[in-house]
Amino acid sequence: MNKATVLTGITTTGAPHLGNYVGAIRPAILASKDAQVSPFYFLADYHALIKCQEPERVRQSSLEIAATWLALGLDTANAVFYRQSDVPEIMELTWMLTCVTAKGLMNRAHAYKAVVAENEQGGENDPDKGVTMGLFSYPVLMAADILMFNAHKVPVGKDQIQHIEMARDIAGRFNHIYGEHFVIPEAVLDENAATLAGLDGRKMSKSYNNTIPLFEPEKKLKKLINKIKTNSLEPGEPKDPDGCTLFGIYRAFAGPAEVAEIRQRYAEGIAWGEMKSILFEYINDHIAPARERYQALLQAPDHIEEQLQEGAKKARAVSIPFMQQLRAAVGISKIAL
Ligand code: TRP
Repeated sequence: MNKATVLTGITTTGAPHLGNYVGAIRPAILASKDAQVSPFYFLADYHALIKCQEPERVRQSSLEIAATWLALGLDTANAVFYRQSDVPEIMELTWMLTCVTAKGLMNRAHAYKAVVAENEQGGENDPDKGVTMGLFSYPVLMAADILMFNAHKVPVGKDQIQHIEMARDIAGRFNHIYGEHFVIPEAVLDENAATLAGLDGRKMSKSYNNTIPLFEPEKKLKKLINKIKTNSLEPGEPKDPDGCTLFGIYRAFAGPAEVAEIRQRYAEGIAWGEMKSILFEYINDHIAPARERYQALLQAPDHIEEQLQEGAKKARAVSIPFMQQLRAAVGISKIAL
């Protein structure tokens, strides 16, 4: 049986937070150990250029995110772990796909539409103010990421589903014109993955500025957990765990027996201060070993680089021959290797 290819990209801007960890990173790392699938995970550094024009931050961010995944135990023997920019065939494919993509399709992309809506609400004369071609056509780059490796399944968050739909549309268009070259990919939403609330009780998200970074040093982690908003019920008053940010985070880390015990403590009126310290101890113990590996990896960037080069080699073993096939298909001569 041919293994299913599972592919996902991580935009390299900013440090991952607890919400990213339980919602995306943890399930992806678990899946990397599954010998029944062939995982492709990559650092989407060309995507980072859309939002970030500070070279040092782009570089540092790639390094930190690679270190995060390696420290958390990504199985690089099974998974192909690479940096998008190390696979130049993706850029070539982006242009081929751009030439079969309807502009009207991109007009509907919500990332673009959100900026236009903001401009219009802000009374701007130019609805496209601040919109680069990078932002506008980024779903095409994302389609190239996916189609380059003929991914069957693409695990993503809800906000990315539209882009997978677009990738399907673009793949179908290319296949229709040039013959069946691409697998039509499917989005996968992990139903079991937890969504965490952040410091202010809204969904934990960089855009709300309410996150707890995954590898925050111990003292800072404690401080942040103490800042999580609770209601004003006094110690001894029974409390409802469901809908409580502290409990939601605890549940994403602890086992069923521990969760049941804490549920009981809520009914008995646990004090918020005590719950915060239980939560801190639990998360800190859980994360400490990976945090140490993470710090060690950042001290040895050559080791990270080596792993990424290894991944790029495996990725290009697929992308180079496939690009030759695609060049022939569109009528451009093969490149001399
Ligand atoms: N755009 C995705 C995000 O912001 C990251 C990404 C880039 C991606 N290329 C991809 C995800 C390809 C899945 C497949 O989350």
